[in-house]
Amino acid sequence: MSFKKDFMWGVASAAYQIEGAAFEDGKGPSIWDEYTHIPGKIKEEHNGDVACDHYHRYKEDVALMSELGEGFVYRFSISWARILPNGIGEVNQKGIDFYNNLIDELLKKNITPCIVLFHWDYPLALYKKGGWLNNESSEWFRYYTEVCAKAFGDRCKMWMTFNEPQCFLGEGHKNGSTAPGIKMSTGDVIRMGHNMLLSHGKAVMEIRKHVENSIVGYAPSCDVCAPATDSPEDIEAARARYFSFDEEWWMWSVSLWSDPVMLGHYPEDDPIFQRKFKGELPEGYEDDMKIINQPLDFYGQNIYTASHWRSDGKGGALWTRLPTGTAKSTNNWPLTPEALYWGPKFLYERYKTPIVITENGMACHDWISVDGKVHDPNRIDYITRYLRALRKASEEGADIRGYWYWALLDNFEWGDGYTQHFGLVYMNYETLERTKKDSFDFFKEVIATNGENI
Ligand code: GCO
Repeated sequence: MSFKKDFMWGVASAAYQIEGAAFEDGKGPSIWDEYTHIPGKIKEEHNGDVACDHYHRYKEDVALMSELGEGFVYRFSISWARILPNGIGEVNQKGIDFYNNLIDELLKKNITPCIVLFHWDYPLALYKKGGWLNNESSEWFRYYTEVCAKAFGDRCKMWMTFNEPQCFLGEGHKNGSTAPGIKMSTGDVIRMGHNMLLSHGKAVMEIRKHVENSIVGYAPSCDVCAPATDSPEDIEAARARYFSFDEEWWMWSVSLWSDPVMLGHYPEDDPIFQRKFKGELPEGYEDDMKIINQPLDFYGQNIYTASHWRSDGKGGALWTRLPTGTAKSTNNWPLTPEALYWGPKFLYERYKTPIVITENGMACHDWISVDGKVHDPNRIDYITRYLRALRKASEEGADIRGYWYWALLDNFEWGDGYTQHFGLVYMNYETLERTKKDSFDFFKEVIATNGENI
């Protein structure tokens, strides 16, 4: 059984994780260029100075991608500081040239480019001006979007504004576990979040203004709350938990970052929102909701894992331990394909917008075997299980439009450096040699058969 006709298969990457050339050709520093050079922040003191050297090897990488087939999506992010070294003001033409050359190369191979405007690598110059807390930040982002839309919008029609506010705001500014690695107050992070959401709305308007026939989405992330059993009570408890707030991990909320974008309001009926967050929003925030709630063509979600929940019998949800022996990836994420059933199902019910799985994948114990190949049966089994779950959700009515595998290449996995291997292509970081894994040929077959081989 194949997936829907015109289903969008794809592979993904992000600027800081693959490009390298971190200080080359006029690029300005991002917060990740600074953060990764602070001792002790990144495993084995790795950094993105060279990464996969995609900046110089993009033609080789697009040629490799073209071996996957044609007509699929390549999701990549733009380094804001490569385009605008100071975040605003003067444009770096060499930065524009790089992404124009990449887009042209993709189109030559009939691969559909999807630009992600922001995937965490915030310009250091703007961070020093207060970053997302500065109330000018949405105008900075609007201008950056205008530059990109004018430069690339004639050939790139598919855009996403933000990747995972949960991470770059929550982990970066609340618990400090990623760049810039600071711990700000809940109120400050909520106000930063509002500026980010306003930036999203202004960016969508900019794209609609300059890009004909644009297709625009947004890509938050989440851990899916799945019911521990198929009982109606547990399903309802899991659904409610999925869109509510955790008192400690609230920045991982789905509704906080998506209800404003998709529904035009914050989750005002949530008692925790009322108690903890509403009072922290800027005066007159309601006036911004119309800008934030721009119509989107798809709602993206990066989904990897699910946790299990059951009803407490009193309208609440109780966390339930995953079955003993649940398989884990090398970065200790559980194998929970039910995430790609319940996540899209619940999200589509709430937002009634076509869903794209904008990231899914796993880190495996990959190395080059004595036969010179990289055998990764676990990744093939993982993709099979997750896609079967996704197809079931689709067959039952969720309007699911695409699945983009994270990632094309092994790459810089943030705090884990290069120690985690997610790619369909293995990276030798000493020689920068690329080696296709067995899963590369498997995913090529998925694309060729529209998932018939799953
Ligand atoms: C994320 C980011 C990616 C990660 C990938 C594996 O979801 O954290 O979007 O940059 O590398 O998800 O963790």
